[in-house]
Amino acid sequence: MRLAILGTGYVGLVTGTCFSDFGNTVACIDKDAAKVEGLRQGRIPIYEPGLQELVERNTREGRLSFTTDLPAGIKGAEVVFICVGTPQAADGSADLSIVFDVVRSIRDHVDGPKIVVIKSTVPVGTNDKALEILKDARHPVRLASNPEFLKEGAAIDDCLRPDRVVVGVREAATGETLKALYAPFLRTEKPFLMMSPLSAEMTKYAANAMLATKISFINEMANLCERAGADINDVRRGMGHDSRIGFQFLFPGAGYGGSCFPKDIRAVVSMAGEFGAGSDLMRSVDLVNENQKKVLGAKVASHYPGGIAGKTFAIWGLSFKPRTDDIREAPSLVLIDSLLAAGARCQAHDPEGMPNVRKLLGDRITYAQSPLQALDGADALVVVTEWSEFRTPDFGVLAAKLRDKVIFDGRNLFDPAVVSRAGLTYHSIGRVTAKPPG
Ligand SMILES: NC(=O)c1ccc[n+]([C@@H]2O[C@H](COP(=O)([O-])OP(=O)(O)OC[C@H]3O[C@@H](n4cnc5c(N)ncnc54)[C@H](O)[C@@H]3O)[C@@H](O)[C@H]2O)c1
Repeated sequence: MRLAILGTGYVGLVTGTCFSDFGNTVACIDKDAAKVEGLRQGRIPIYEPGLQELVERNTREGRLSFTTDLPAGIKGAEVVFICVGTPQAADGSADLSIVFDVVRSIRDHVDGPKIVVIKSTVPVGTNDKALEILKDARHPVRLASNPEFLKEGAAIDDCLRPDRVVVGVREAATGETLKALYAPFLRTEKPFLMMSPLSAEMTKYAANAMLATKISFINEMANLCERAGADINDVRRGMGHDSRIGFQFLFPGAGYGGSCFPKDIRAVVSMAGEFGAGSDLMRSVDLVNENQKKVLGAKVASHYPGGIAGKTFAIWGLSFKPRTDDIREAPSLVLIDSLLAAGARCQAHDPEGMPNVRKLLGDRITYAQSPLQALDGADALVVVTEWSEFRTPDFGVLAAKLRDKVIFDGRNLFDPAVVSRAGLTYHSIGRVTAKPPG
């Protein structure tokens, strides 16, 4: 099938590449000329494991191309996917201006009958509004909703082997075309779920709302454990083996970030207001998370009652989660702000996130080429993101390098007994602080 993808960010680039890998001819369209030029020369603008190789292969074999020219890009395409950003507006709602801009551009440039699919995360009812715009197109345009559930860091695998595909359609024929397009992705009997566009739009928000709720839930339990002297890790295991509960997304930490959960939860609150429905739970999930992002800073402040002016903190992890360079709403940024405001210095290492943080913070912090280099001259270590390479450090080396012999761990990567035996004080989340013996 001939396809066009509008918006070549995390979702659009991965989706377009995976469709081309299954033999479709895909034009990826983006308004960012530098990004398009880079992609044409084989430069991938984001870090996503496995993506580079797939883009190179499919470009070389002529199935994947990049352009800034929307009319040329959608020409001849049977299906056009909208994958542009839907950032948070000032009032917390989803800003749909880019989505409606591209819908109007499609209306003005359609060269024949098409299916337009909104893959961007959009509030319930957006598809209906877009249909109103497309009614004036010169050729028949059918509109569908197809929310995306991929996870950054595992996006290729999620895209090629989704748990399910959800589509919202008005006509069975549109559903059948999309089912044929997705058939190679669903070889392992995973379901293709057809519903109304309203339900498809809502499904995406409900799924993210559930996942964010689990995170805020376990973080609230962790904070209670810590004060009560219980260990969240034991509690988590005690709960998770209950088959009704399970373990997924029940890891306490420094709060969720990224380009989806924070804005999507606030968009649910905004939608609930619009439709006169309650949103007490979602407001709390957001509030718990905003407070959780401050927990590491608060632990540092209480460890140093005399203040931290002049202290140097090594920071392991900047991206909002491992295996991505995405730093949008990352807990690391909240921590760094609080450390800098209190007069401390920060030396950070992140395998992929440093260029993006440098664009944001410039020389306000220093950037280390390795986890060990970040420890040079540091007083304390703060672990913010659970990259695999941070999981098994030599604690003897850490104890020798860190002047104040203290670790603040926002992801519970280490065994408190092992860390404290090495002569380090170990603060983690939802567990009692471990101190060196004696
Ligand atoms: N990132 C994720 O993990 C993820 C997962 C599921 C769903 N989503 C949703 O998918 C959508 C896209 O997210 P993303 O993370 O890929 O965003 P992104 O910011 O990484 O990419 C958006 C792209 O759209 C381009 N763009 C902006 N205006 C344009 C225009 N007028 N014409 C063509 N291109 C234009 C931008 O230059 C950018 O490359 C959002 O609605 C998001 O909520 C994201």
